Amino acid sequence: MELEQITSVSIIGSGTWGTALANLLAHKGIKTILCSKFAKDAVYLKEKLRHPNLPGAVLDSSIIFTSDLEYSVKASKILVLACPSIYVRDMANEMKPYFSEDQIIVNVSKGIEEETLFTMSEVIRDVLGRDTHVVVLSGPSHAEEVSVGLPTLITAASEVREDRKLVQKVFSNEYFRVYSNGDPKGVEIAAAFKNIIALACGIADGLGFGDNAKAAIVTRGLFEIMKLGQAMYCDPRTFSGLSGLGDIVVTSFSHHSRNHNAGVLFGQGIEYEEVLQRIGMVVEGVNSLKGAIKYANKFCIEMPIIFAVNDIVYNGKDPRVAVNELFDRELVGEKK
Ligand SMILES: NC(=O)c1ccc[n+]([C@@H]2O[C@H](COP(=O)([O-])OP(=O)(O)OC[C@H]3O[C@@H](n4cnc5c(N)ncnc54)[C@H](O)[C@@H]3O)[C@@H](O)[C@H]2O)c1
Repeated sequence: MELEQITSVSIIGSGTWGTALANLLAHKGIKTILCSKFAKDAVYLKEKLRHPNLPGAVLDSSIIFTSDLEYSVKASKILVLACPSIYVRDMANEMKPYFSEDQIIVNVSKGIEEETLFTMSEVIRDVLGRDTHVVVLSGPSHAEEVSVGLPTLITAASEVREDRKLVQKVFSNEYFRVYSNGDPKGVEIAAAFKNIIALACGIADGLGFGDNAKAAIVTRGLFEIMKLGQAMYCDPRTFSGLSGLGDIVVTSFSHHSRNHNAGVLFGQGIEYEEVLQRIGMVVEGVNSLKGAIKYANKFCIEMPIIFAVNDIVYNGKDPRVAVNELFDRELVGEKK
């Protein structure tokens, strides 16, 4: 498929990221359909040309705001799946009756399915068929910044060169530069688990720690994720790229990051229910934790930071006790 053949793009999911991507494509002059799960959301976006969680952005009036899934799926060759990871399987099932195998799904959702340990591409193929064309679009990209045109670099990953190159061309513009990558599994593993490292950095902030602690968490956290990726034959270079190190840095240090902000609350000793209630939006790192623990056990990989975060989030462990335990561990070489 060539760029000239792309007459429209449909985005399924009108959360902050789906909406920011719709604005980007519409600014580029591409006919863009933004499909909300709930009719009231489509009506709101159309009337106000604003998203409640993207206060700085004015939405392009050429966007077709709808909640008609059948129309949205049938309308475009490229379908962007932009809902939180916990809804990806259900959404793919809802799309299935209208989907045809010559379409390309661009997955932007970051997470792992807890029961199956599937990445989101694997979930999509499990539902829509194993030959479904899926491209993963992932990297350091806060919706708040993309929606107002701030410079952003991101990765489009697929085993199929033609697919990733097409997505690269469709999404790139003067402030959004897309790189291509042939290791989608590595990109998705990095994307799913970087949110846990952001939670850990937030916990460090909540405890009043300094920059040293966060630099250590980012470095050692990335090492934990890279070990996991290597056990799954992913390309180690992916983890030092945009979707690995890049996304960990942005998520761990930015005030836009709800994972980081949730971590701060956990670090202050606030309990699970209240943290989620105060954040008020999906915290993907919390959802990814159980998958990460299962993976670590399956491949016998030591992941002390990720296990500590899991203890704090799900087992109510006092964050200071968790930190003491991390420091009490046997002294080891840096590559272990
Ligand atoms: N926000 C970002 O900056 C950003 C950047 C890159 C990737 N992502 C990823 O994109 C995905 C979506 O994140 P977001 O920030 O846009 O989410 P969000 O929290 O802004 O929005 C969640 C959306 O899910 C919808 N929803 C609620 N119940 C649903 C259901 N049962 N089925 C389908 N949809 C339902 C809601 O209507 C809402 O529009 C996540 O996996 C996230 O990790 C987000």
